[in-house]
Amino acid sequence: MLLHIPEVFTKTQVLELRRALDAGPWVDGASSAGPLAAEAKHNMQFSTESPHYAALSQTIMTALERQPLFVSAALPQHILPPMFNRYAVGNTYGDHVDNAIQMDRRTGLRVRTDISVTVFLSEPEEYEGGELIVEDTYGSHEVKLAAGDAILYPSSSLHRVEKITAGERVASFLWVQSLVSDAWQRSMLFNLDMTLLKLRSQVGNTEEIVALTGHYHNLIRQWAD
Ligand code: NI
Repeated sequence: MLLHIPEVFTKTQVLELRRALDAGPWVDGASSAGPLAAEAKHNMQFSTESPHYAALSQTIMTALERQPLFVSAALPQHILPPMFNRYAVGNTYGDHVDNAIQMDRRTGLRVRTDISVTVFLSEPEEYEGGELIVEDTYGSHEVKLAAGDAILYPSSSLHRVEKITAGERVASFLWVQSLVSDAWQRSMLFNLDMTLLKLRSQVGNTEEIVALTGHYHNLIRQWAD
């Protein structure tokens, strides 16, 4: 499932983030990829050694955690600290699948990557190329969103970032270990939650909706790790 979350950040917040990120330093993006992915990865990454990194990363995490769509779709158990990448002209990230396990450098915890998230921090008009292409069971999807918007996609999917031919593309990216590891179960829970939300707004908290909500939570109890 691919899910577009609009307006995680306002345009003003995006500008503030971009201003702070511009200060750098930026390092070779291949340093954070596994050996296979590193061969395909040609971009820059905001240094995690920067004194500004922790606060910037936290800003992304906090904003996402406040998004009901993100929480419902991801059912997050662990969120790896968001990082930032920058693609200049000629940069690209060829077809790859994200590493299944990533180390959370704050806690040393090994986290299973179920969901990949990209938060776009450049407007689509600022660059040419740079589309995120995600291949899933339903085919190939091209993603290029407004600055401040986010996309969630399965970490297990083959994906790439097309070569930049003009301008520059800045984004934040992160991984989530979900309470529910199975993507299909997660997607059913998300659909159920969204339908319940709509029903509740149409008819209020009827006895039947309360009962269905109970089923939703009991399914999470069944399926959560
Ligand atoms: Ni990736």
